[in-house]
Amino acid sequence: MLSTLAIANYRSLRDLIVPLGRLNIVTGPNGSGKSSVYRALRLLAATARGGVIPSLAREGGLQSTLWAGPERFSRAMLAGETPVQGTRRAEPVNLRLGFAGDEFGYAIDLGLPVPGETQFGLDPVIKRECIWSGPVLRPSALLVDRHGAAIRARGDDGEWQTIPHPVASFDSMMTEFSDPRSAPEMIAVREQIRSWRFYDHFRTDAESPVRLPQIGTHTPVLGDDGADLAAETIREIGDANALDTAIDDAFPGSRVAITNVEGRFEVTMQQQGLLRALKGAELSDGTLRYLLLVAALLTPRPPALLVLNEPETSLHPDLLPALGRLIARASLRSQVIVVSHAARLISALEREEGSESVVLDKQLGATRIVDADSRDLPAWKWPAR
Ligand SMILES: Nc1ncnc2c1ncn2[C@@H]1O[C@H](COP(=O)(O)OP(=O)(O)OP(=O)(O)O)[C@@H](O)[C@H]1O
Ligand SMILES: [Mg+2]
Repeated sequence: MLSTLAIANYRSLRDLIVPLGRLNIVTGPNGSGKSSVYRALRLLAATARGGVIPSLAREGGLQSTLWAGPERFSRAMLAGETPVQGTRRAEPVNLRLGFAGDEFGYAIDLGLPVPGETQFGLDPVIKRECIWSGPVLRPSALLVDRHGAAIRARGDDGEWQTIPHPVASFDSMMTEFSDPRSAPEMIAVREQIRSWRFYDHFRTDAESPVRLPQIGTHTPVLGDDGADLAAETIREIGDANALDTAIDDAFPGSRVAITNVEGRFEVTMQQQGLLRALKGAELSDGTLRYLLLVAALLTPRPPALLVLNEPETSLHPDLLPALGRLIARASLRSQVIVVSHAARLISALEREEGSESVVLDKQLGATRIVDADSRDLPAWKWPAR
């Protein structure tokens, strides 16, 4: 389980350390940085899949995602006595992402290349990557350490071994180097991150694949777009009772069934008062979204971490307590992070035992955690440059 998420210089997240528990709620007003937290987590996940640099390029390049404010705020700036202005930087502004859990911690530092050294002047360069054991980076806890193109790993005897081949500036050590003997931790961390699952807005427009029959292929994990809803929900592989309960909890008296026409599956829903079940194409956006969330949360293969961005979208507030119960249930099997500003969902989740709530706001353009001073925030240390 992750205990800390750390982000620096990503959009409004100038320097944010987020404490994590089993069931987490990230909330705050519009523009406070909630979606940025979600996207930063996705970037971390992309690292383990070899996709962090292309993901940043799709976001408009590293330069545009970097914190646009000054390196530091002086006391006078914070007090509003002087205007905010940049000063000469002590360090280049780099995007830094990291997390720590019970077993391992990981951090990555991405910067811009030295001008003139490469044609790819806007493509980020991975400057540092570290894996350590335990919750906080200490020199003695370092297990794998990348500095530019050089990687070293600590062997069983505690001695450092340098990995013979250099790694390219745009490749993460997590995908390029995976020797189970010299760095088993790297594989453990990588596989853990690869199991993380993210659900953002599901498409439910008329052409959405969710509304159409799909070839029934075994799908223990609902895809990002939910197209495999029918296969994921099929009773053969999932928890049929939990499915019926979740549907009845939200839509009393309704029942979901999957039709199978020559191997093509389609979701149908029997509702009170109707003579026939409605097909995917006939269901309302909110109903379909709820079914997708049910499928995502009742997955027969729970991931280590499940992240939901604004799951309340297009759901009626009356459905939110039922969604909260479903999320709480999922948190028994996976660590869950929910980004939301739906009051009823938040209050339902906050009532759950062990839930951790983080309220964000902005001060001089930088996201911070409300009440950070009075909270017991986890310790965090970035790798030195
Ligand atoms: N490079 C940057 N430097 C500093 N701030 C930035 C940068 N890019 C974007 N921002 C700011 O980051 C803020 C956070 O946006 P984000 O989308 O995370 O907010 P949100 O909490 O999800 O809001 P909403 O509830 O409206 O979805 C925005 O106010 C935006 O102005
Ligand atoms: Mg948002």
